[in-house]
Amino acid sequence: MYAVLGGSGLSQLPGFEVVKRKVQRTPYGEPSGALTIGMLAGHEIVFLARHGYGHTIAPHEINYRANLWALSQLNIDGILSVASVGGIRPDLKPGQLVVPDQILDYTHGREATFFEGDSQAVQHIDFTWPYDQALRSSLCLAADAVGEQVVQGGCYACTQGPRLETAAEVKRLARDGADIVGMTGMPEAALARELEIPYAHLALVVNQAAGVGESAHAISHAQISKTVHEGMARVMGIIKSMVQL
Ligand code: HPA
Repeated sequence: MYAVLGGSGLSQLPGFEVVKRKVQRTPYGEPSGALTIGMLAGHEIVFLARHGYGHTIAPHEINYRANLWALSQLNIDGILSVASVGGIRPDLKPGQLVVPDQILDYTHGREATFFEGDSQAVQHIDFTWPYDQALRSSLCLAADAVGEQVVQGGCYACTQGPRLETAAEVKRLARDGADIVGMTGMPEAALARELEIPYAHLALVVNQAAGVGESAHAISHAQISKTVHEGMARVMGIIKSMVQL
């Protein structure tokens, strides 16, 4: 069974028949909501909206540890994380889908590890390739099967938010080697690796990042809403295709 972690614009899954909701208590506090278990295209999946079902939890306020730990209590084969991002590389325009293969982490003050306290030995997980290669390949195959083009590979920069970046910050991210920018990819990916759960990201570009192309002067929220709406319908198609692979 796959888990789907939905981001902005994907707090519900159209076509998903809910069978049960599970309120999972965790040693790390409350997850973003109840885990929703049900059927999608004849296959069982579990869904969790990382910003909460009413989209009220900001990126820096998400309890990533509780979310990941809650999912780990179910017998899941992998986590498919969906997120909206800004495009830094000039060719990554709104509507484009990216399956990144690298991460730069600019977040701070987030609870970013399960290895804490005196009771357990410190572990330094390997994170050279932060996303699960097999799951990335399945995502790309699934997209191909429904005729969706995805950009395979790219570097995801995770900023702290909740504000968007300045143009100078985006220039720095570009110099650092980032292709897309979002606010929720970390510590989520690292926590999944600590729990040894395969994890991959499907990112929908919803705007050009601050200072880039059409966002030279400002980022248009009206444009973002439109792109999110159209894009998430395509994301759903890919997820449906993926569970049937
Ligand atoms: N920056 C950070 N996060 C985002 C953006 C952005 O431009 N667009 C969507 N999520």
